[in-house]
Amino acid sequence: MHLGVFEVAAPQVGGTLSWSHPYSDSVHHREQQHWIEVAQLLEAAGFDFLFFADGYGYPSVGGDLPEAAARGGLNFTGIDPMLLIPTLAHHTSRLGFVVTSSTGIDHPVAMARRFATLDHLTGGRIGWNVVTGASQDTIAGLFGHDGMTPHDTRYEIAREYVDLCLQLWEGCWEDAALVQDKESGVFADRSKLHRVEHVGKHFRSSGFFTVVPSAQRTPVLFQAGSSAAGREFAAAQAECVFLQGTTPAHAAANVADLRARAAAAGRDPRSVKVLVGATVTVAATHDEALARRAEFEALQTDEVAAVIYAGNTGIDLTALDPDRPLSQINEAAADSRIGQMGQSNIDRFRRPDGSWPLVREVLDELRGRGTRGFTVVGDPVEVADQLEEIMDVTDVDGFLLEAIFSPGDHRLFCDLVVPELRRRGRLPEPDHAPGTGSLRERLGADSPRLPSDHPGARYVPTPA
Ligand SMILES: Cc1cc2nc3c(=O)[nH]c(=O)nc-3n(C[C@H](O)[C@H](O)[C@H](O)COP(=O)(O)O)c2cc1C
Repeated sequence: MHLGVFEVAAPQVGGTLSWSHPYSDSVHHREQQHWIEVAQLLEAAGFDFLFFADGYGYPSVGGDLPEAAARGGLNFTGIDPMLLIPTLAHHTSRLGFVVTSSTGIDHPVAMARRFATLDHLTGGRIGWNVVTGASQDTIAGLFGHDGMTPHDTRYEIAREYVDLCLQLWEGCWEDAALVQDKESGVFADRSKLHRVEHVGKHFRSSGFFTVVPSAQRTPVLFQAGSSAAGREFAAAQAECVFLQGTTPAHAAANVADLRARAAAAGRDPRSVKVLVGATVTVAATHDEALARRAEFEALQTDEVAAVIYAGNTGIDLTALDPDRPLSQINEAAADSRIGQMGQSNIDRFRRPDGSWPLVREVLDELRGRGTRGFTVVGDPVEVADQLEEIMDVTDVDGFLLEAIFSPGDHRLFCDLVVPELRRRGRLPEPDHAPGTGSLRERLGADSPRLPSDHPGARYVPTPA
């Protein structure tokens, strides 16, 4: 079972409200020591990685920041998690780090340089969660764009963006190009450096990548966004997919679709790891776990659910008729942002027969759930049973844990659930020796480098 923790360098995670509860310490998210303690805790427990969601946008209703988003600290403020990574890498030796960064804002050369730098500074423990970006309406405003780039065009841009990054990481330096020999005074062998020439639909680049090859070269490529375009993108380029799971049947269908698309793209479908979000509330006893979850439920309101949903989809649920189906968003004067900002959070509500729930039911479902995946509550044995069942039914490779009270929930999971999963053979025994492996190997690959069936591998130059 692969395990990561889903976090944000912000007060609030997952489209729910809990930062103000005494159990939560997320108001310390601007302090390095807070994250050092989280990273060391996860590393000691044997987690594969710490994952940070991120983005420039924020929720908007009627073209403005809702008062509730500011008051509630709901997907509104946060710091850039990428800048935490070197510190966290310095205080750990095995834990991987995955940072979300969206395509389509800056040039791929800038992104490639940042992640190559992080791969050096982490000793090959970095992953990039490639997204086309939530809250595109506010991003367009902030960055002074004329308007929002259409949903599927954003994925088309993402494909080319990642492709150019792959050329820079894999295609410029032969393995033997870095000499760095003080005696001879030769730093790099010019004959082993290759110019990248890219003229695409959205980007151009001609020149040499100036960061020397790192352990993984290409960071482990994660992806999140489960629309059809998102899955097609993931199947082509992602090595690890963060899936939003609602029901086991919904998740199982998405996993099967993703693996089929990867196979059709000529890749080993099992080499694409799929992790699903899970909000686990565990305590020593069943009743204590229920009581902890009830503390969280008591903070949730329709207003919280609606603000976060607006940030992800452009849909203001409070302006819709609660007693009519969600499909009313498709009516004549519908907001042009709908369906263009993100489809995963709309599609997740469509029933298997194609019908839509009432808006009232959508709010009921979102309250306390937000953008989170599976809800798991219980004592350690009950939690382990439920996690195993989700894995067996859906064919996912593991979980991204989305705490409600951070970092207290991480501690409870490490203390109570990890030993139980180890007892069942789902997690390896703890390894306290300083680590040397890459994140890619941690996730099952046999080398720190991209596998040969990944499209980026075709850019590796053949030595003359
Ligand atoms: C599980 C999940 C996690 C996501 N995490 C982020 C994130 O951290 N930052 C961000 O800007 N967008 C995030 N997104 C949204 C993506 O940017 C995605 O591109 C957007 O939802 C539009 O694509 P879609 O229609 O395929 O969902 C996430 C989406 C999903 C489903």
